[in-house]
Amino acid sequence: MARHVVGRVEELPPGSHRVVPVGRRGVGVFNVNGAFYALYNVCPHAGGPLCLGPVTGTTEAIGPYQVRWVRDGEILRCPWHGWEFDLRTGCTITEPVERVQSYPVRVEDGLVILET
Ligand code: FES
Repeated sequence: MARHVVGRVEELPPGSHRVVPVGRRGVGVFNVNGAFYALYNVCPHAGGPLCLGPVTGTTEAIGPYQVRWVRDGEILRCPWHGWEFDLRTGCTITEPVERVQSYPVRVEDGLVILET
């Protein structure tokens, strides 16, 4: 397993992310409310640069013709066709579930470490 220093914790505050040049396409490292997650920068739909898309939330049905905004900052939307992924799991938020490769991220001595 290879280890990559992403940066200092304070350089990646909640809501921020960074695409690390690992492998052919890179890996996106995201701070979601203080926890770090890493996803491969390739969308399983058609190979788009997934981690260059916006971090957003999604809607949830609360009744007939009624929705509310939920999970703000926890969803990554692919910039090519809009598929949405849960940053915590790498899974799409709709059926059928597709999954993008995810990687462990650790914090050691104030550094964010990506393991691939
Ligand atoms: S390539 Fe990502 S949604 Fe199509």
